[in-house]
Amino acid sequence: MSKWQKSDWRAKPRIQMPEYEDAAGLARVEAQLSQYPPLVFAGEARSLKAKLAAAARGEAFLLQGGDCAESFAEFNADIIRDTFKVLLQMAVVLTFGAKVPVVKVGRMAGQFAKPRSAPTETVNGVELPSYRGDIVNGFAFTEEARTPDPQRMLQAYTQAAASLNLLRAFSKGGFADIHRVHAWTLGFTDREEAEKYREMASRISDTLDFMIAAGVKGESFLQMSQVDFFTSHEALLLEYEEALCRVDSTTGLPVAGSGHMIWIGDRTRQPDGAHVEFARGVQNPIGLKCGPSITDDDLKVLIEKLNPKNEEGRLTLIARFGAGKVGDHLPRLIRTVEQMGANVLWSCDPMHGNTIKSATGYKTRPFDNVLSEVQDFFAVHNAEGTIPGGVHFEMTGKDVTECTGGVRAVAEEDLSDRYHTACDPRLNASQALELAFLVAEELGSRRDEARRAVL
Ligand code: PEP
Ligand code: CO
Repeated sequence: MSKWQKSDWRAKPRIQMPEYEDAAGLARVEAQLSQYPPLVFAGEARSLKAKLAAAARGEAFLLQGGDCAESFAEFNADIIRDTFKVLLQMAVVLTFGAKVPVVKVGRMAGQFAKPRSAPTETVNGVELPSYRGDIVNGFAFTEEARTPDPQRMLQAYTQAAASLNLLRAFSKGGFADIHRVHAWTLGFTDREEAEKYREMASRISDTLDFMIAAGVKGESFLQMSQVDFFTSHEALLLEYEEALCRVDSTTGLPVAGSGHMIWIGDRTRQPDGAHVEFARGVQNPIGLKCGPSITDDDLKVLIEKLNPKNEEGRLTLIARFGAGKVGDHLPRLIRTVEQMGANVLWSCDPMHGNTIKSATGYKTRPFDNVLSEVQDFFAVHNAEGTIPGGVHFEMTGKDVTECTGGVRAVAEEDLSDRYHTACDPRLNASQALELAFLVAEELGSRRDEARRAVL
């Protein structure tokens, strides 16, 4: 077989990608992007891979979350900061509550392209191409906005670069210092969740004060003033991905320069399709969404293609079946993986299998179903003796009403209050914290059981 080339995907069947009318314009943008610096470096992707390998062994836990789709219109420092704050809070809940290191990965700085259930949308008898994310076309229901425009890739690149710059500053520049654990709360977070978080934060502060008083110093204490934060997105728009693909000077291997981790969506995981072809050739950690339609044989072929060397941390399987369906699919997939002896990290996306249309016409997700899918995910892994290694979810630091339920119950009638998403309904900060407390509890009880087994 000849060596993998970053353009090989072009010879494979592609779906969920736009047809650009302006071929010359597209070529110009691709040429330009190929000259730009990559957004991430191969060494960072490798460091994430090592952390994901630890999560797959049960020595860490993956927390992957952020927007369903980042938007050009809603691009400012406050939105990035608040999403980052919620992720930090969730990570604290997991680290302190479940005593496990948390690998923090944002659906940020590149999450612009969206697969859609239909290629067109009809409103009042007018049919136009579906909105496919700001990197492809505009949300407004006009012919002009909906026509795919290659120039948008340049704006996506710029926005991703600026977002990543801020995230790096937040991660390393003092904002994420654990001593500031109280400062990450958002004013509007529901009282009950906020109170639980504050209590935990106070215990952390006390512990830190004690450590300082006791004279604890040195490298690891200093490390607590910084976090490692990684970016990820669905590698859907392959022209963009190819243009940012680089050869890593250390290993000589190709690396996707668009984000640390990329994933393949549930709709584009055809073993012989373009998306799998692209992802298999880059050395980044790869995610693979697994919905109810994935067969055991498909999974086998995909694992062989995406991780032929059975490298630890390379492949994350993101299960997204929907509440009540986890038991029908996860055990068979786990057994397939176990039979192969394949190294994978199992993560749970409790969002995408739980989307429904509310009576009021909004696309929503009942929060109870989100929580129950997470619980089922843990229960199946406990029964199979395998490791639940992470969660993947859509959330925002904004005070939105997009998913129903939660401690501060959002009712169907409330959805219209602050429904801001252009795509899928996201958890708000309160719901995200509630999810983190639930996961911490599940992880904590696993740890307690393991301890009891040793005694
Ligand atoms: C997504 O993560 O935004 C998405 C579309 O997920 P899936 O491919 O699992 O449907
Ligand atoms: Co989504």
